[in-house]
Amino acid sequence: MRSIVLGAVLAVLIPLSAQAQEVGDAAAGEKAFAPCKACHNFQKNGVGPDLKGVVGRKAGTYAGYNYSAALKNSGLTWDEATLHEWLKNPKSKVPGNKMIFQGFSDDKKISDVIAYLKTQS
Ligand code: HEC
Repeated sequence: MRSIVLGAVLAVLIPLSAQAQEVGDAAAGEKAFAPCKACHNFQKNGVGPDLKGVVGRKAGTYAGYNYSAALKNSGLTWDEATLHEWLKNPKSKVPGNKMIFQGFSDDKKISDVIAYLKTQS
């Protein structure tokens, strides 16, 4: 009896944990953010714009940063789906932008980085 109950509980829990993988992990995202640190932080503009509060922000609008015309005029807002496409392939998402990063091929890594960015608001 006990093992039947346990089996039923596991049957419910396993798909839930598989689903949870789709949601980004901020701790893993902090590690995956390492290559971004060459150009970005959450305190001030550097080679790239300050990313504090970037999730939900309109693209190309952080005060004092000299954006490319391409990004400034992109009309994008950095919601999760848009950020995902950007971090997958910045060049194809906004042709002519000046962020020199080839993109992550791993979607899980991208979701993790976005989860981390959300903690920096
Ligand atoms: C070699 C430097 C460099 C690296 C590495 C880099 N970026 Fe950038 N990033 C930039 C620059 C420069 C811009 C501004 C692009 C423009 O104006 O066209 C930018 C813009 C952005 C923007 C848009 C911000 C806004 O205010 O509209 C986001 C989001 C972003 N980067 C995230 C990341 C993340 C996350 C990583 C790591 C996966 C990363 N970047 C890696 C240089 C870099």
